Amino acid sequence: MSDKTPIRLNVNGKDYDIAVEPRRNLADALREDCGLTGTHLGCEHGVCGACTILVEDRPVRACLMFAVQAQGKPIRTIEGLAQGEELHPMQQAFCDNHGLQCGFCTPGFLMLAVGALEAEPDMSDEDLRGVLSSNLCRCTGYQNILKAVRAAARQMRGTQA
Ligand code: FES
Ligand code: FES
Repeated sequence: MSDKTPIRLNVNGKDYDIAVEPRRNLADALREDCGLTGTHLGCEHGVCGACTILVEDRPVRACLMFAVQAQGKPIRTIEGLAQGEELHPMQQAFCDNHGLQCGFCTPGFLMLAVGALEAEPDMSDEDLRGVLSSNLCRCTGYQNILKAVRAAARQMRGTQA
């Protein structure tokens, strides 16, 4: 008898019917059962933020959530950010401001920043720094990530100031 439970995940507007053990975390389910490998796994303990995605538009560490808990909740991952060939302003800003090097942490930073700024477009710079401080990057020194997110924030607000 299978100890897997059939569940349906809605990711980037598309339904995925998969079967998972109750203990399977959402990051593994996205990567291995849905084939969406853009969500990265680093520490698997909720520390690094590499696995950050949006669940009901809020940033969530996918390694800390069971896949079964995400049923019926809209999930957004890095694969859903670009619209066809057009990058999301946050992606474009990371390119323009050299906000990545190896790119391992990048999907997590992008989803974290998009989720935070969608919820609070006029977030203060201090609060923005506080939000970003929850994710780790071993390459960039953070300055260019911050620069990129500030630039994207202006773009998302429709201002260039
Ligand atoms: S892999 Fe989830 S927080 Fe590090
Ligand atoms: S760009 Fe390499 S870990 Fe952030």
